Amino acid sequence: MNDQPRHTAAGPVDSPLVRLDGVTKSYGSGEIEVDALRGIELSVPRGQFVVVLGPSGSGKTTLMNLIGGIEPPTAGSVVVAGHDLTAADDRALTEYRRAQLGFVFQFFNLIPTLTALENVALVAELVGAPEEQARAALDAVGLGERADHFPSALSGGEQQRVAIARALVKNPPLLLADEPTGSLDLDTGRQVLAALHRACRDGERTVLLVTHNSAIAAMADRVLRLGSGRLVGDDLVTDPVPAEAVHW
Ligand SMILES: Nc1ncnc2c1ncn2[C@@H]1O[C@H](COP(=O)(O)OP(=O)(O)OP(=O)(O)O)[C@@H](O)[C@H]1O
Ligand SMILES: [Mg+2]
Repeated sequence: MNDQPRHTAAGPVDSPLVRLDGVTKSYGSGEIEVDALRGIELSVPRGQFVVVLGPSGSGKTTLMNLIGGIEPPTAGSVVVAGHDLTAADDRALTEYRRAQLGFVFQFFNLIPTLTALENVALVAELVGAPEEQARAALDAVGLGERADHFPSALSGGEQQRVAIARALVKNPPLLLADEPTGSLDLDTGRQVLAALHRACRDGERTVLLVTHNSAIAAMADRVLRLGSGRLVGDDLVTDPVPAEAVHW
């Protein structure tokens, strides 16, 4: 028997996908210093659907930005898929975001003069993926039929699903979504949540979803709660419900 850990290009299979140790993030200095995150310890395995809750200003977006390699922590370490982001230079961080990360925001940031398919294909091209993959990503979020529509001809929920397809076309192991349903009503919000759930279940993909909306916690595998920059709750959900069963 070979008891060495199995490895992929992204690191040892059994190591957590995301690991934060003693992470602190402060903005400003002196009297106007704000501690956005304080002493965060966190380990997230592959394939987990994690909902991050917390009041406004509790540090949710800051946490996403650190895991996304967009900002460095003030202290502590952030390791994702075997990459120590705290030791990485700009070039390595860019490559990390390109290869490992899909990011979905509250406002969809689609290019208005490109069709749904073209918006997704643009990213496929950047990472050298074939155009069929763009079509497959749109199919995966249930929008194959709308490929040739421009964003202005799509509902908010459909536009957000195009944004998810765009994040998925790179086939990243980690998807970060910051208030992806924040500007949507219940029905379109649920379609977006279902697309994120599927993205997690279909690909051993880890999803970190930030929201104010505690109802969404019912569909998570795990719920993290932030309060004043600290991790004040970390609970596993034994029986997550499908997105269609979430009410708010
Ligand atoms: N670039 C910055 N400069 C200074 N302070 C900042 C900066 N970014 C965030 N902060 C502060 O850090 C704290 C955490 O902000 P963060 O954006 O992470 O909160 P949040 O939980 O995402 O809030 P919301 O739910 O309103 O989006 C807040 O007090 C905020 O004012
Ligand atoms: Mg935020």
